[in-house]
Amino acid sequence: MIQAFHVYKQYDRESSALSDVTLHVAKGEFCFLTGASGAGKTTFLKLVFREELPTQGQILVGGRNVTAIPDGQIPELRRSIGVVFQDFKLLKRKTILENVAFVLRILAVPGREQKRRAFAALKAVGLHHKMHAYPMQLSGGEQQRVAIARALINEPMLLLADEPTGNLDPDMAQEIMALFREVNARGTTVLVATHDREMIQRMGKRVITLDHGRVVAG
Ligand SMILES: Nc1ncnc2c1ncn2[C@@H]1O[C@H](COP(=O)(O)OP(=O)(O)OP(=O)(O)O)[C@@H](O)[C@H]1O
Ligand SMILES: [Mg+2]
Repeated sequence: MIQAFHVYKQYDRESSALSDVTLHVAKGEFCFLTGASGAGKTTFLKLVFREELPTQGQILVGGRNVTAIPDGQIPELRRSIGVVFQDFKLLKRKTILENVAFVLRILAVPGREQKRRAFAALKAVGLHHKMHAYPMQLSGGEQQRVAIARALINEPMLLLADEPTGNLDPDMAQEIMALFREVNARGTTVLVATHDREMIQRMGKRVITLDHGRVVAG
């Protein structure tokens, strides 16, 4: 699902965020990306999502070379990937139900179907009772769960999550991981960037470790 070949990313001349990263994540796999703060985890996810371009190297996602696709095809790529990033950008003026349904609106899914699926996605993260609330009325952890519901609503081929449990208490973090497992069992490939060693151990999945932008294990 993800094939990275000798990927380098330099934001500036002095330092490299990623150096010679070659890694593969198979279709249907669930794996973690870990490493100290600044190791390059978020950068790698951004490259997969084509939010950033590598300085050198190639990345294939679902067989498509995302480093070479024309800008016009980026939206289509992104629709096939669910993302939960650290700065989860919820739309402030929309209720959380509308936030989650928004993706489907773009895909021209009929209104009733949008609502039904958005409700189901909110239910899966335990927030259906707050569906008419606005993001500002929710805690950080609740907002994060909305972002997760939004990422999953379209049953993406790939889910990228950047510290998805960072704002959550341990019980909620476990529930979210259980949800990711289910999504994975239904066929979505899952890549989770995290520092949380305990969670990684509990899950017993493959772990890719970055250190100063290089793959040191995995
Ligand atoms: N937009 C940017 N401009 C310049 N440098 C950046 C940018 N984004 C990241 N970096 C640098 O690239 C390196 C890797 O950052 P990245 O955010 O990928 O690390 P990370 O592993 O996700 O860290 P954390 O665990 O703290 O989230 C860091 O040295 C960081 O300062
Ligand atoms: Mg990060």
